Amino acid sequence: MYTTPLHIIAIVGSYRKGGIIDSAIDQILASAHEAGAKTGKIYLIDRHLSFCTNCRSCTQHAGPQYGACVLDDDMAVILRELDRADAIISGSPMNAGTVTAVMKVFIERLVCTAYWPWGAPAPKNRNPEKKKQAVLVASSAAPAFMANVTGDITASLKTAAGMLGARAIGTLFIGLAAQQQHQEISRRTRKKAQLLGKKLAAGR
Ligand SMILES: Cc1cc2nc3c(=O)[nH]c(=O)nc-3n(C[C@H](O)[C@H](O)[C@H](O)COP(=O)(O)O)c2cc1C
Repeated sequence: MYTTPLHIIAIVGSYRKGGIIDSAIDQILASAHEAGAKTGKIYLIDRHLSFCTNCRSCTQHAGPQYGACVLDDDMAVILRELDRADAIISGSPMNAGTVTAVMKVFIERLVCTAYWPWGAPAPKNRNPEKKKQAVLVASSAAPAFMANVTGDITASLKTAAGMLGARAIGTLFIGLAAQQQHQEISRRTRKKAQLLGKKLAAGR
């Protein structure tokens, strides 16, 4: 019987191609690919994303369709790519205690995934059912346990995954990630990444 391969898209919120986040994501994708998944990667630094202006036009209409943004940039294309994915990986280094600025811009622009008409006290997710799976990847100069307690990076990535209709099934937090200019990921991290890739590829 023929089944379509699972499609996994990674969103890279690091400023460094080949850095810790990018390398860890590569390991997850390679392992998922080996297990039969189709994979792709979105580097946020290569896309043109403007700041959300808080006009809220994208949040006014009800229904499951994401609201259209008034800004003419790459956000709509990114959302279409993610919409076609069965699973998502999102990764960001911890900068100043949270996700990078480029990831934050992306997360703010996800407001279009919510219905939030004027007068409503809070946004409501248009697609509260989390049908997709997500893996979150974070890195920090500090040891992982410390960064996880002092920063909000995994919470931010988890919220963003939820807005995209995905439930986090695993997190890879890489601490001590700023020891060398060109640091390689450790064997332990590589193994964890590979397991997460397999886990993602196994789920529907
Ligand atoms: C502007 C800036 C701010 C940073 N802030 C923090 C921080 O608050 N906590 C921390 O543990 N590491 C911090 N770091 C270190 C980065 O988290 C680390 O270099 C990154 O995880 C490496 O990932 P990459 O190779 O994908 O760039 C900061 C680095 C930069 C450049």
